[in-house]
Amino acid sequence: PTEKKTYTIGFSQCTGGDEWRRVMLNDMKRELALYPHFQLLYKDAANSTATQLAQIKELVRQDIDLLIISPNETSSVLTAAIDEVFQKGIPVVLLDRKITSDSYNSFIGADNLEIGRMVGEAVPTLLKNGGKVVEIWGLASSSPAQERHKGLLEGIAKAPKIQISGQLYGQWEQDTARKVALANLDVLREADLVFAHNDVMALSVQRVCQEAGISPLPLFVGIDGLPGPKSGLQKIMDGTLTATFLYPTGGEEAIEVAAQILAGKAAKREYLLNSIRIDRSNIKAIKAQSDKLLHQQQDIEKLNQRIGQLNDTYASQKNALYVIITC
Ligand code: FRU
Repeated sequence: PTEKKTYTIGFSQCTGGDEWRRVMLNDMKRELALYPHFQLLYKDAANSTATQLAQIKELVRQDIDLLIISPNETSSVLTAAIDEVFQKGIPVVLLDRKITSDSYNSFIGADNLEIGRMVGEAVPTLLKNGGKVVEIWGLASSSPAQERHKGLLEGIAKAPKIQISGQLYGQWEQDTARKVALANLDVLREADLVFAHNDVMALSVQRVCQEAGISPLPLFVGIDGLPGPKSGLQKIMDGTLTATFLYPTGGEEAIEVAAQILAGKAAKREYLLNSIRIDRSNIKAIKAQSDKLLHQQQDIEKLNQRIGQLNDTYASQKNALYVIITC
């Protein structure tokens, strides 16, 4: 352990533009309130590997004590850049997405291979007579997309009547998913079930199918299961999505693990977060729990603000007192 009193944690996020990653950042900030000696330097690469590369360099120049990173791709350039950081002696915590080398202290995230398998095993229960599945991929060069796909294949391996009739590349994004869906309406018209690597893309493709008048609509299955009026949990509640799989952000855990590492304590190589299948059968209980959790989190955020205000008042009063005493 060093004698440094404050620590700067760099957080390199592959994109900050979607709800799941906004939740992740909030999860981090709530946890950070417990560590007043930590400062977070946040960089959003907006889905660009080149930008993320530059931002990693920038964070190192800003003298970070630890790097938390969700790498946009598993690509060799990003892996090499992270290797370099790690070799400088700066601890690295990978969050949600992986690289291809061992240059990191801990990985935190749900098991995407397992989630893919769970999806694959759910499909034959949803399509009892078999049928055609269209898979909407996340960014094909990112580890969650690769693992979700692999898991899906393993999960449906014992279901000969299930056929993957199309694979479209939505790159995790609503707009890209929309474009590829519009360009592949004939594939979607034949589909019995659409499995998208996240809820955002599932909902986007569903909208395209509706607009194109496809009827009956295929079933839609996604991943993430976020709270909020436009997100997965509500869409299961409405019956818009047939199933989704919880994908926890790991934001809180990333700060906890960073704190352990910075305190010189041993951190595990891998922190696997749990996922569960969410559908009509359990949505009410999960929604109730999630609403309660959200409420508690909002209370904690308000408390944190209040503590901040009190600290400011205290600091200004202390100054005033100092002025009085020295006059
Ligand atoms: C958010 C997201 C999630 C997905 C995860 C995979 O940016 O696309 O929807 O589960 O990233 O890394």
